[in-house]
Amino acid sequence: MGLKCGVGLVALPILLLVLISMAPTSLATARNGGGSRNWGFGFNHTGCAQRNSTIVVGGSEHWHFGFDYSAWAFRNGPFLLNDTLVFKYDPPNSTTFPHSVSLLKDFRSFIKCDFKGAELVGSVAQGGGKGFEFVLKESKPYYFACGEHEGKHCTSFLSKMAVISRPGSYIRTTLLVLAFVFTVSEATMRIVGGSNHWRFGFNYSAWALTNAPFYQNDTLVFMYDPPNSTTFPHSVYLLRNHNSFKACDLNGAKLVADTMQGCGKGFKFVLMKRKHYYFACGERGGFHCSAGLMKFYVKPLLPPCNV
Ligand SMILES: *[C@@H]1O[C@H](CO)[C@@H](O)[C@H](O)[C@H]1NC(C)=O
Ligand SMILES: *[C@@H]1O[C@H](CO)[C@@H](O)[C@H](O)[C@H]1NC(C)=O
Ligand SMILES: *[C@@H]1O[C@H](CO)[C@@H](O)[C@H](O)[C@H]1NC(C)=O
Ligand SMILES: *[C@@H]1O[C@H](CO)[C@@H](O)[C@H](O)[C@H]1NC(C)=O
Ligand SMILES: *[C@@H]1O[C@H](CO)[C@@H](O)[C@H](O)[C@H]1NC(C)=O
Ligand SMILES: *[C@@H]1O[C@H](CO)[C@@H](O)[C@H](O)[C@H]1NC(C)=O
Ligand SMILES: *[C@@H]1O[C@H](CO)[C@@H](O)[C@H](O)[C@H]1NC(C)=O
Repeated sequence: MGLKCGVGLVALPILLLVLISMAPTSLATARNGGGSRNWGFGFNHTGCAQRNSTIVVGGSEHWHFGFDYSAWAFRNGPFLLNDTLVFKYDPPNSTTFPHSVSLLKDFRSFIKCDFKGAELVGSVAQGGGKGFEFVLKESKPYYFACGEHEGKHCTSFLSKMAVISRPGSYIRTTLLVLAFVFTVSEATMRIVGGSNHWRFGFNYSAWALTNAPFYQNDTLVFMYDPPNSTTFPHSVYLLRNHNSFKACDLNGAKLVADTMQGCGKGFKFVLMKRKHYYFACGERGGFHCSAGLMKFYVKPLLPPCNV
């Protein structure tokens, strides 16, 4: 079913470009092109505690053709309200091609690279130097694309991406190019707990209820600060079954993110299967889970085919 509604002819050329642009170098490109925002061990506590709200689109790749911006947006999300995106591209001369930044009207125009009704926000000259800055002021989807070459930079060269910002709660990043290959549908990214992030005392069961349904391949983002003398450690475990969940029983539970992995942009967990996932914080022997309400479960559904 997923395939039937998904793969069109248009997917094939795109797939080739995805494979090219997903080369190891692009996978390694972090925000700002640097590696300072890695999760896990060896990260810089001071650098990690505060997220940078100014994001250079494409990292060190800047805004050019052939780079997979949809995949970049996925890796570098979530994007929050008031984040600033910086588009950097050289002004055109006899040897470099012009680029620009347009906002497409809707998801349909985005899929088709249809510039009808699009708004030019960054002209060919504005990307030089420090780049063209765009603030995500509203809580809505933004569909960015390069409008040069009658839209060919968008259609053939992946120079487009969709970013959906919400006030720190419900963030969707359209996985456009990858989604195309599989199912022309959006996968969504959600910050667990919204602006509460992953902390002691927030009712995550209630959060999961109000944020349902979850779909297969949706991404959950767990955000929590690394512990220090004043903040408590948190972690993410998958509990074995419903009984373990009810009892906050960590026996046989699987650690999926340690106390350091929630920092910076958070720990991302993709709901790959249509099964029950029982999440809990494993700190203090289950106390955070039971008394702190740091647990919830989801059972992702088959995504609707809606494009
Ligand atoms: C951590 O990052 C801060 C700010 O970015 C920097 O001043 C500091 O030197 C870094 N510390 C280490 C150990 O890299
Ligand atoms: C502990 O971490 C929190 C959140 O990252 C930060 O606000 C606070 O200043 C840190 N405290 C110390 C003593 O480092
Ligand atoms: C945030 O990113 C911008 C753009 O790359 C950079 O100029 C700035 O120094 C960064 N700020 C912090 C606090 O890392
Ligand atoms: C975003 O910026 C606007 C205006 O500067 C401010 O009123 C608003 O509270 C900010 N929102 C968030 C979530 O930071
Ligand atoms: C064109 O612009 C590029 C990038 O800014 C620069 O490296 C190159 O030297 C310029 N070429 C000419 C002929 O001005
Ligand atoms: C948390 O929310 C769930 C679902 O709404 C509710 O059943 C439960 O009583 C709440 N727990 C607390 C301690 O408020
Ligand atoms: C989820 O993603 C996997 C691989 O990324 C893909 O094989 C699968 O078809 C996707 N499932 C749905 C329902 O989108």
